[in-house]
Amino acid sequence: MFGSSLNQIPKELILPIVQRLRLASDKGYIMDRNIESYLKVYQVLSEEECIKTVKALEEKDSEFQTHQFYNSTAGTYHSYEHELSVAYSQIETKDLIMERIWNTLKKYIEELDMKGWFVSWDGFSEVRFNRYHTDTQMKLHCDHIHSMFDGQRKGIPTLSILGSLNNDYKGGELVFWDEKVVELKAGEIMIFPSNFLYPHEVKLVTEGTRYSFVSWAW
Ligand SMILES: [Fe+2]
Repeated sequence: MFGSSLNQIPKELILPIVQRLRLASDKGYIMDRNIESYLKVYQVLSEEECIKTVKALEEKDSEFQTHQFYNSTAGTYHSYEHELSVAYSQIETKDLIMERIWNTLKKYIEELDMKGWFVSWDGFSEVRFNRYHTDTQMKLHCDHIHSMFDGQRKGIPTLSILGSLNNDYKGGELVFWDEKVVELKAGEIMIFPSNFLYPHEVKLVTEGTRYSFVSWAW
């Protein structure tokens, strides 16, 4: 029955559908459904570049401010106990970090082979530096960034980029889903989808100061 109705359709109408299906499977457009496959770590900065960046940030001490979470429902900002500090300092290595992020984002998307349909991301935000002194942390959250959209930029953060700048601290583990610890060494960045499927946190730093940076692609 099915075969006979297919026979009634002109051949030239059937072919494009068959070709499209084959193309989809050849190109790997069927997504990997393992949620952990989308956490990817890349080495992007040298030891010297990290040291230079941390030194520059130490000199910008006064620019760091206590981090605040924005509650869009209440329209309020809130810092929790042990909250980290953040700064958008203009330091010499910032352009270099932005350039490495750009190149690595392209690599991430290529590796996941999403080019066939993931076509409309527009850019990534200016790097924000995160500083975790001893006894500070970032509590479990997913990224829902309001401040980056100013009327000209439109979209949602699709990917988060987290970079580590030093190793000389204790504690401060990056943890996903309240259980998976991701080791991020100085010079490495992690790219991951930043929506509600990927809640993450930075545990309390127990010794030293942890420096990192973050950017969001939309
Ligand atoms: Fe986050």
